[in-house]
Parts: sequence; structure tokens; C-alpha cells
Amino acid sequence: MFPPTWALPKNPLHNRVPPGEGLKSLFSGEGTAQGQFTVRKEVLFSRSLIEQRVRELGARISKDYEGREPIVVGILNGAVFFLADLVRAIRVPTRIDFVRAASYGSGMSSSGTVKLTKDVELSVEKQPVILVEDIVDTGLTLQRIIELMERKGPESIRVCALIDKTERREVPIRPDYCGFSIESGFVVGYGLDFNEQYRHLPDIYTLKEIDTVHSTRGKPRV
Ligand code: PRP
Repeated sequence: MFPPTWALPKNPLHNRVPPGEGLKSLFSGEGTAQGQFTVRKEVLFSRSLIEQRVRELGARISKDYEGREPIVVGILNGAVFFLADLVRAIRVPTRIDFVRAASYGSGMSSSGTVKLTKDVELSVEKQPVILVEDIVDTGLTLQRIIELMERKGPESIRVCALIDKTERREVPIRPDYCGFSIESGFVVGYGLDFNEQYRHLPDIYTLKEIDTVHSTRGKPRV
């Protein structure tokens, strides 16, 4: 059954797992039993569907920002592929920059504070800003980044998220532009990671099954 307890992080950051024992090695052999778990991933959004949605988002943003030059700010690391494709689908000129957020404080608790570990380098004062996220989960990362960005006096801030995942939302925040909306699920690929794995995959997958396995012998591999 999915998700198992260790994949239900109360940490505000998406797909963040507890720094428990050996999760990396447990997970390093996707599709094979290693230690206790076997993992299967299923395509949720194919690369062609992602391409199509990115084109549509690019067209909408181009229309909305006609005659302007927005600064497109990616939230590292997950948004890097999405941002790279998105800015090439936007027909108005853009400048790009990045921020990086990290959660500190309370370990597994969702009350941990989100801080920037990398700020923008361009001046966003009086500029239209588009924040680009791979996924909005609790919304805490985005809320904090918006707060910090507002202090810099931009002309406007809008959010473009590839995936709006709603089930665990803790703050009333919704992206202005959204590629896909899902209620729940543990998703990887196209920038989204599990324990820093799977980001490079061109499609987006749901991790579907994790079985408790004590021995690979005689067990079907998934
Ligand atoms: C992920 C994701 C978002 C954030 C969403 O980042 O890229 O930035 O979590 O979660 P939230 O809505 O619950 O705040 P993460 O810190 O895992 O870093 P990453 O982008 O490097 O994967």
C-alpha cells in the first residue's frame, strides 16, 4: 500500500522524508527489493502531455504579459526543468533568476520555518515577477517566498506551478498559472525528487507500490 508511514512527511517540504536509517539505500534500487521495500512507479503525466501544458502556460503568460518583460524566478532545485521549458514557451522577453528555500526548526513538524538559502541576484524592484514552482504542497514554501519577495517592492508577483497538490495545503494559496492539479500522491520526475533521485526523468510518475519484503527470493519483482 502507498504511501507508507515514512513517505508521509509532516515536514512542510514536499517529498522530504525523515532522515531515517538507510532510506537512500533502501530506495536506490527502484524496481528491486533492497532491504525492506519494493517500489514501482507509474507514469502520471507523460513528457508529451507536459510539453503540451507548458506550451499552453507559455501562451497564456505571453498574452498576460504582452509588452512587458517579467523576471521569472525559479525555486531550486525542483523547478529547474520546468522553468527552462517554460521560458522557451513564453513569447515575451524574460529574465531569469533563482531562489532556494530550506526548512529549519522542528524536524518532522510542519511548524518549521522556511528560509532562503539563496536569494535573487537581479533587482526585482518595480518589476513584474513570476515565481516558478515544480509543486505546491502545503504552500508554506511559496507563502514564505512571496513574503520575502514582496519586501523587495516588485510591481507584481504571480505564481506558475507545474503541479498544484491540494490535499495537504496549510495556507490559502493557489498558483495563478497551474499545469496540473492533483489531490494527493507522491510524484517524481521532471525535477521532482525522492531523496534527490528521479529528478532527471522526462516524465512525471507516481510512486505506486511499496511492499514490505524480507527477502527477494520467490517474490515477484515489480
Ligand atoms: C519542494 C518543492 C517546493 C516545496 C513544496 O521543495 O520543490 O519548493 O517542496 O512544498 P510545500 O508547498 O509543502 O512548501 P524541496 O524543499 O523538497 O526542494 P527541491 O525543490 O530541491 O526538491
